[in-house]
Amino acid sequence: MSTIDILGLDKTFSTEPPVVALKGVDLRVRSGEFVALLGPSGCGKSTLLNMIAGFEQPTQGELLVSGQPVRQPGPERGVVFQEAALFPWLSVWDNVVFGPKVQGVAKSVYEPRAKEMLSIMGLSAFEKTLPVQLSGGMRQRVGIARVLTMGSQILLMDEPFGALDAQTRLSMQELLLTVWQQLKPTVVFVTHDIDEALFLADTVYVMSSRPGRIQARLEVAFERPRSLELTTSAAFNQMKLEVLKQMRH
Ligand SMILES: Nc1ncnc2c1ncn2[C@@H]1O[C@H](COP(=O)(O)OP(=O)(O)OP(=O)(O)O)[C@@H](O)[C@H]1O
Ligand SMILES: [Mg+2]
Repeated sequence: MSTIDILGLDKTFSTEPPVVALKGVDLRVRSGEFVALLGPSGCGKSTLLNMIAGFEQPTQGELLVSGQPVRQPGPERGVVFQEAALFPWLSVWDNVVFGPKVQGVAKSVYEPRAKEMLSIMGLSAFEKTLPVQLSGGMRQRVGIARVLTMGSQILLMDEPFGALDAQTRLSMQELLLTVWQQLKPTVVFVTHDIDEALFLADTVYVMSSRPGRIQARLEVAFERPRSLELTTSAAFNQMKLEVLKQMRH
């Protein structure tokens, strides 16, 4: 079980003057659900994700992961940022096994898992390669392989494909869906891109501008597995219009 339950969550940064980033956020994510968060710049998407990750503490309200209050980061919650934060001096393999190694996980456990994840992400031939020799898309794939090798049941993704070109971005979206279908992690995916949100997610939440609140919840009922043709269908465009209306609200 990897659920996320957020109830009446506020976050105020004690700067001068204080910044009320989030006010009264309610959000429930089921185990294995794929949730996308959409909203204008500065509405608190990253702040919300950082609190689920345990990097920031709520000012008020409840934030439970698998029924337990979040006090700190943990390996069951893997974070993927816009730029994969890889160790530049370590090979792809050493980057991917770094987490479990540091945690003292047995080699017999993490090695087959790392092999499998690198294979799923299409990186088996690049185990010995250094990050600097990889493309941006490949680096993001290493970042995802790394959190999956750590055994994270919850993936917290903050515009993970935002820095990629359009074509790479589309193949990363397809790849992510394949992995998700296979491993069924719980995903919270922050994006500015409505198409991306609708293509990937089971549920899209639209946030209001600061202080951020959940303004709308839209169920995305398109059949799975999804292929890119979906994004050109009439039903998809209809849904897109719904989201646009909510965002303009
Ligand atoms: N550590 C901090 N100290 C003070 N203010 C902060 C801090 N982190 C974020 N904020 C403020 O909180 C608000 C929400 O920021 P956040 O980064 O969560 O927005 P966002 O929705 O992720 O935006 P973007 O789409 O541009 O990434 C902003 O006004 C930001 O300036
Ligand atoms: Mg952000």
